[in-house]
Amino acid sequence: MRVGCPKEIKNHEYRVGLTPGAVREYAAHGHQVMVETGAGAGIGAGDDAYRAAGATIAKTPEEVFAKSDMIVKVKEPQPNEWVQLRENQILYTYLHLAPDPDQTKGLLASGVTAVAYETVTDERGGLPLLAPMSEVAGRLAIQAGATSLQKANGGRGVLLGGVPGVLPGKVAVIGGGVVGLHAAKMAVGLGADVTILDRSIPRLRQLDDIFNGRVHTRYSTVEALEEECFSADLVVGAVLIPGAAAPKLVSREMLSGMKKGAVLVDVAIDQGGCFETSHATTHADPTYEVEGVIHYCVANMPGAVPVTSAHALNNATLHYGLALADKGLKALVDEPHLRNGLNAHKGRITNAAVADALGYDLAEPKAVLAA
Ligand SMILES: NC(=O)c1ccc[n+]([C@@H]2O[C@H](COP(=O)([O-])OP(=O)(O)OC[C@H]3O[C@@H](n4cnc5c(N)ncnc54)[C@H](O)[C@@H]3O)[C@@H](O)[C@H]2O)c1
Repeated sequence: MRVGCPKEIKNHEYRVGLTPGAVREYAAHGHQVMVETGAGAGIGAGDDAYRAAGATIAKTPEEVFAKSDMIVKVKEPQPNEWVQLRENQILYTYLHLAPDPDQTKGLLASGVTAVAYETVTDERGGLPLLAPMSEVAGRLAIQAGATSLQKANGGRGVLLGGVPGVLPGKVAVIGGGVVGLHAAKMAVGLGADVTILDRSIPRLRQLDDIFNGRVHTRYSTVEALEEECFSADLVVGAVLIPGAAAPKLVSREMLSGMKKGAVLVDVAIDQGGCFETSHATTHADPTYEVEGVIHYCVANMPGAVPVTSAHALNNATLHYGLALADKGLKALVDEPHLRNGLNAHKGRITNAAVADALGYDLAEPKAVLAA
């Protein structure tokens, strides 16, 4: 198959759909890979690295879209990319269609077969192509929080690890899923005093086993949240109720009970945020203050560390990407978890949540693929 990787054009997006290492794997499977010039610049991979891996270099994005049977990207296509997609072409990337009616219309008009990373599933009920970005964001949440806690950045001036003779900082992690686990790992690594709150008792049991007494686990009630937030130096918001907006767990009123200069990192901001006072920020201006509490609410945290993020993403996407390249649409017929990633095909919506959110008739994936 002819596999193409254009340069990402979304604002401040430095990741790339295919790393040179991934290109080598596609080439080893006998595929022809075309990469747009400069596509890997954000992760320090020049055109020569791609040539050495077996790719040809295209001078323009138009060439990549026109000459590829499958397009591998990171972010959802932008308006000038929708119009270059076509029927009998596979698009493999993050899409997040439910809140994006314009993009959905664009993809449907193109007729492209769109496979969304974020809805591919695994046998344990997880979202394997979303998880690596949650791992990155969770770990980054502590780095960002620790930096914001520094006095010059508006924070309380607390070192999370403390020093001999001085107590460490207190970190509360709300939501002990993928983000929460990785945030807790980093905070523990720095020597902080860490509490994880969650509503799932089985998950709290698991976390208790993983950390072997090194973190406190707490069932998430209003009372527990208040106590933890009021005593915390850093609070990480990491809850998710799949398919729903994040619940507002920390109210504006609660901020007045928190320490001045404490920091809230709302990782769940991409689902609307779990603090009442959160609004999305960017890496260019990541923090703001409300009631003396510093808020960090960057919606695309992994974008800050594109080298790590692009490699983590490629590790996760490679297996199914190769299946798509090797077998084409038959991969979607054969692999139910990959088929869950199919969001649009030949002008029809094939994902129930997207159809529901945007008022389209659902086309059953198996049926449209068989047609
Ligand atoms: N900002 C970013 O750049 C970025 C990057 C990656 C992920 N995220 C977001 O981070 C959030 C968390 O993602 P995840 O992969 O860890 O999800 P996850 O499903 O692995 O974990 C969510 C956890 O929240 C818990 N939870 C639900 N309601 C709760 C409540 N009321 N109190 C306490 N815990 C509760 C669940 O039991 C679960 O353990 C999602 O919104 C995700 O989209 C943001």
